[in-house]
Amino acid sequence: MMVIKHILVLLFLTFRLSSSTKVTYNVLSFGAKPDGISDTKNAFLKAWNLSCSSTSPAIIYVPAGRYLIATALTFYGQGCKSKGITFSITGTLVAPSSYNAIGNAQVWIKLYKVNHVTISGGTLDAQGSSLWACKSSGKTCPQGSTTLGIYHSSNIVISKLRSINSQMFHILLYGCTNAKIQGVSIVASGLSPNTDGIHLASSTGITILSSKISTGDDCISIGPGTSNVWIEKVVCGPGHGISIGSLGWTLEEPGVQNITVKTTTFIGTQNGLRIKTWARTSNGFVKGVVFQDATMVNVKFPIIIDGNYCPDNDNCPSQVSGVKISNVVYEDVHGTSATSVAVKFDCSKGSPCSGIVLKDVNLNFRGQLAVSSCANAVGTASGLLQPTSCL
Ligand SMILES: *[C@@H]1O[C@H](CO)[C@@H](O)[C@H](O)[C@H]1NC(C)=O
Ligand SMILES: *[C@@H]1O[C@H](CO)[C@@H](O)[C@H](O)[C@H]1NC(C)=O
Repeated sequence: MMVIKHILVLLFLTFRLSSSTKVTYNVLSFGAKPDGISDTKNAFLKAWNLSCSSTSPAIIYVPAGRYLIATALTFYGQGCKSKGITFSITGTLVAPSSYNAIGNAQVWIKLYKVNHVTISGGTLDAQGSSLWACKSSGKTCPQGSTTLGIYHSSNIVISKLRSINSQMFHILLYGCTNAKIQGVSIVASGLSPNTDGIHLASSTGITILSSKISTGDDCISIGPGTSNVWIEKVVCGPGHGISIGSLGWTLEEPGVQNITVKTTTFIGTQNGLRIKTWARTSNGFVKGVVFQDATMVNVKFPIIIDGNYCPDNDNCPSQVSGVKISNVVYEDVHGTSATSVAVKFDCSKGSPCSGIVLKDVNLNFRGQLAVSSCANAVGTASGLLQPTSCL
């Protein structure tokens, strides 16, 4: 009896060990040259294909060095047998310096329909500055591509990744479930156009922790159809701050709900905590948002709801936003505003904001009293409030 029991335990352990043993594929063994000049795309694809068909968890190892990814690269996850694939990166993946190579590809490095994928460490350098220069010269230029785009995927971890100089968005999650982004660092010039740090859309169960984001556009932006998001310990600036929106461009649009943004710092950004909706007819909504513990350092619009967004008054025939904004809490928001209107709720006449809660908000404008401004907004205010609430 004892012996049989021991054999069973042994079999069990052996099975457990063999099924959890990881296989490692080093991109160098598939011909990648880490010289920044030779295209290494195929080596990455070979390593991915083997990882994908492996029944053991796999590691794609990228040692130190510069790896040119000369054109758009997609890792497809359909049909993968793998229980998990980890990109363990020490080196830098670099795009060609001439913007045309990836400028029309929409996404430079794409993960499509993958499950249980981790990206750990490393740097992505899209070398976007030539495209930014083209755009600011007024010439006709390609739109540019997102550096890392993850689509229709689940159980994703991005940890300690650095993304620099994206042509457009740095990291985009679309149609994803259960993703954790942690300890990332994102850097682009404060003057670079549309270089959002992290953009979320149609996704749920997303956590963003302990990250630092400096770009020319939104630090983090949250698009239609996104829910159950937890953002904590994020430092933003330069850039446009954390934004829910733009929402309400289309008539039938899924809403945004259950968003928590906690312990954030904004340094010299255009906005701090923003909700932005197009002045267009829409069934969209925003509900259940908590902004808690935010520090503002010289931020133009620390707390802002722009419910009448329509740059150049273009494409807004109805002139009012249909997006319904409700149950938004601002708690313990403090620091300095770069303009006198530190709190601004410019809500839509057609669908006023409701359930706005202000609690302990202390914002100064150059050592003077700041003011708040409300239009079509109702809610409650309590605690220390500076500026005085207009709700
Ligand atoms: C990877 O797998 C895909 C799909 O099976 C195939 O089309 C492609 O040629 C493979 N690429 C490499 C580099 O092995
Ligand atoms: C709201 O989102 C959090 C994650 O940020 C999640 O833990 C919680 O269950 C969600 N609440 C609801 C009611 O779905």
